[in-house]
Amino acid sequence: MFNTLDEAKEACKNCTKCKLSATRTNTVFGEGVVNNKIILIGEAPGFYEDKAGRPFVGKAGMLLDKILGCAGFSREKNIYICNTIKCRPPENRDPEADEKEACREFLDTQINIMKPKIVLICGRVALESMFGRKMSITRVRGQWFDGPHGSKMMPIFHPSYLLRNDSREKGSPKWLMWQDIREVKRVYDTLQ
Ligand code: URA
Repeated sequence: MFNTLDEAKEACKNCTKCKLSATRTNTVFGEGVVNNKIILIGEAPGFYEDKAGRPFVGKAGMLLDKILGCAGFSREKNIYICNTIKCRPPENRDPEADEKEACREFLDTQINIMKPKIVLICGRVALESMFGRKMSITRVRGQWFDGPHGSKMMPIFHPSYLLRNDSREKGSPKWLMWQDIREVKRVYDTLQ
């Protein structure tokens, strides 16, 4: 385990613990406001994130920023955003077990140092990584779970899923996402 985020980020940059290090352009450690309030954990870097070395900067990331922004959250002001793994899997395939295992110390360090009170788990891959078993995001999104360090943890849809489902009607994925983010904001506003 590392003592600071900078130390972990530096080790991440030079990490060769799994095969993804051979195909990455950049590691994507995470970015945003470091405090003990709220962190969002996505899946893995995609094409644009790999090029930029920053999380959620492609089309899905732009939608995520927009949704978070509607509730007053932004990486500049109040939220930290990262992924379960820090290197892009080729062709954006799901991360494999050994890759998740090799990368876990970086995510654990981020959580242990920040001790966020709210943890948002974005999409199925992040969900299954955090819970360590197969789960349905549709079934559990919007619910609060007990997370690390006494945090409240909520699974939410991944923005890529929302991009594939255009409807905003009541009950649609976009509508559900908005209910979830509003609930997150409600709880966030009660934090000291
Ligand atoms: N999807 C993710 O889960 N994370 C990113 O950083 C980009 C796309």
